[in-house]
Amino acid sequence: MRRRSQFVLNAVTILSSFAGISHAQTHPDATAPPTWSHQIAPILYSKCTTCHHPGGAGPFSLLTYEDARRWSTQILTVTQSRFMPPWLPEPGYGDFADNRRLSAEDLANIKRWASAGMPEGIRAEAPAPPKYTSEWQLGLPDLILTAPESFTVPADGQDLFRNFVYPVNVTRTRYVRAIEILPGNARVVHHANILIDRTAELRRQHPSDWRAGIPGMGLEIGSGDRFDPDSHFLFWKPDTPAVIEPPGMPWRLDPGNDLILNTHLKPTGRVETVQPRIGLYFTDTPPARAPMLLQLEHDAVLNIPAGDSHFVVEDELRLPIAVYALGIYPHAHYLGKQLEAWSIAPDGKRTPLILIKDWDIDRQSVYNYRKPLLLPAGSVLHMRYVYDNSAANPRNPANPPVRVRNGNRSTDEMGHLWLQVLPVHAVERNSSGAETDSRMLLERAWMEHRLTRDPNDSLAAYNVASLDTMSGNPAGAIAIYRKLATAAPKDTRIATSLAAAEEQNGDWQSALDTYRHALSLDANYTDARYDLATLELRHEQYDAAAADYRTLLQQHPDDAAAHAGLGTALAQLQQPDAGRTEFDRALVLDPAQPDALTNYASLELAESNPQHAQELLTKAVAAGAHDAATYQQLALADQQTQHPAEAEVALRSAIAADPSDPTSHSLLAQSLAARGDLVGAIAEQQAALRINQKDADGWSNLGVLHAQSGQPAEARNDFERALAIDPQHAQARANLQRLNNGAAKQ
Ligand code: HEC
Repeated sequence: MRRRSQFVLNAVTILSSFAGISHAQTHPDATAPPTWSHQIAPILYSKCTTCHHPGGAGPFSLLTYEDARRWSTQILTVTQSRFMPPWLPEPGYGDFADNRRLSAEDLANIKRWASAGMPEGIRAEAPAPPKYTSEWQLGLPDLILTAPESFTVPADGQDLFRNFVYPVNVTRTRYVRAIEILPGNARVVHHANILIDRTAELRRQHPSDWRAGIPGMGLEIGSGDRFDPDSHFLFWKPDTPAVIEPPGMPWRLDPGNDLILNTHLKPTGRVETVQPRIGLYFTDTPPARAPMLLQLEHDAVLNIPAGDSHFVVEDELRLPIAVYALGIYPHAHYLGKQLEAWSIAPDGKRTPLILIKDWDIDRQSVYNYRKPLLLPAGSVLHMRYVYDNSAANPRNPANPPVRVRNGNRSTDEMGHLWLQVLPVHAVERNSSGAETDSRMLLERAWMEHRLTRDPNDSLAAYNVASLDTMSGNPAGAIAIYRKLATAAPKDTRIATSLAAAEEQNGDWQSALDTYRHALSLDANYTDARYDLATLELRHEQYDAAAADYRTLLQQHPDDAAAHAGLGTALAQLQQPDAGRTEFDRALVLDPAQPDALTNYASLELAESNPQHAQELLTKAVAAGAHDAATYQQLALADQQTQHPAEAEVALRSAIAADPSDPTSHSLLAQSLAARGDLVGAIAEQQAALRINQKDADGWSNLGVLHAQSGQPAEARNDFERALAIDPQHAQARANLQRLNNGAAKQ
């Protein structure tokens, strides 16, 4: 390795001397040596001191002239050899933000400064040194999570990989715009990845030992039942303490989620204890754009013979849609040598994504493109990793070399390439005009690619089934889940997904049985219990629903949605006071809980408390409930509290929300009639009847409006239509009689 660096040094020397000549020709005084104050401090402050400051990841500080002088010989050596600053990507293969690579001019300046005896220049003209803090860089976080227990790193020995588990306990969905990690000692925690465990799966798998953290280099974590692909690189290393998301792209944190901090720990020569803290910074604005992480790999072929110095692993993936590449994260362990990725567009144009010629796991990083890279639809992503399992690889952990296979221990190998992409169009329309989340098309292409390689890839099959459910093909999903369930009869997650697909397929009785079966496998599986309770509620099994919500609440006493569900069931079971208690509790936990607001309002309307119903519904609308049913209820509450004008506004909103709902039109007709606008009322009643012509009441009401506005012929016709639909319609019959009597009298 050192020899290679030497070679680079020579090349750079030639380059810099050329730069020196051209400089001298244009600037007569360019022969004056660079000084700390003018040329060197700016280089070190932008490329070195993020690590080389007191308490930072570097072994010493380079903040002052005296520091730099003390280390100048080493600085010269390590910069010319490009050992420092740590930066793996080759120039010309992807243009990355925060590029740390020193320019030829920087290198020339450092060299000339050192040979001129490291002049300081005029101290007063030096830039102010950057400030670093060992506390939170972005100020006090909105939420601080502390690892439940500390972990002791021995003074020496191998690197360790530890997964700290953090239950989050938010009571409503939050959007995270930035994170920071305070590991304790920046020199121990080498880097860390945050994983979002949507279903607290890891904690459930380790009920007795999760608090101490779980060993392992990498983890696979499911995302629960909904389409929720990983979307962000939550990758942290000591010199970038805050991971800030681009505007409009916060990530979601829901009640019941855990965060897992996957850390790479390095012994420092002293026994150290670490108890990392995660700081979360929230925003109230939900994401406007949804990126997604795609992965290339071919772990199945990672089986490297001892001594093989050129073992190649490749993968490729065709993009069904156009995307922007935002960032890239190549990952291998100690045998990875040359890591490369590129994309070929349908017209043959090649876009380099990254090239690392001398991979070093200790210097791994996420690289974000300075400008999003457009990859047209039909582009094929390629990855090509070369491994060196010979004794000549100085990083080979085994001496003599041994056969190495795929796995997540540090003595195993890995070959993963993650690409963060943003679909150019958030949704894609098919030939019949139906819209699909573009990320689903990417996910399907990815998973189907995995299945063509390995038809027994159960994770890929599971994901394809989930995509089927979400794109309205529950029958396809059921077939896949059944097959998976036969192979893994004790898997609660598969049983739960099968139940959801059955429910979507209209077979809710089977779904009830399947959910109950899932819960017989694992009574604590929250997703299954929650879906079951909701299904029972929808099918008027109120006692069963109440029991299941109560079980949920024993496990999660602060789950606002479960309190709202229980409140709804109790209201239906004619226990209004018990229902109120639950709704109140839900709204304390989450003042915008949508079911609590609307179902509480229904209860209050039924219990003749329109005032309170009106308050609740106004909040529901403010919280984003813009559906016709909510506006209709609000109109009802407005009417009952003697606010006819507001009721009319609410009904017009209901119509705007869903113009095809006849109820909104007929309610508006009644409201207009009540304030004497018969023309308007007739128009609305007719609109309602155009949508639903079989509504005998509607025809009868239209007849009354026509009669009131002096149009007896139309009125007669309306009453007859009502009676044609329902010959027993008493009102229509009586009205028709009255009309005929009136006509006879005249
Ligand atoms: C990402 C953090 C980081 C940055 C940025 C960084 N260093 Fe370092 N530096 C380290 C670490 C960590 C070490 C200890 C050796 C190692 O682990 O690679 C180190 C070691 C050194 C050494 C001692 C080398 C030896 O042979 O022991 C020097 C000199 C040095 N750095 C100079 C610099 C200079 C000059 C820059 C900027 C041009 C810089 N570093 C940028 C993290 C950094």
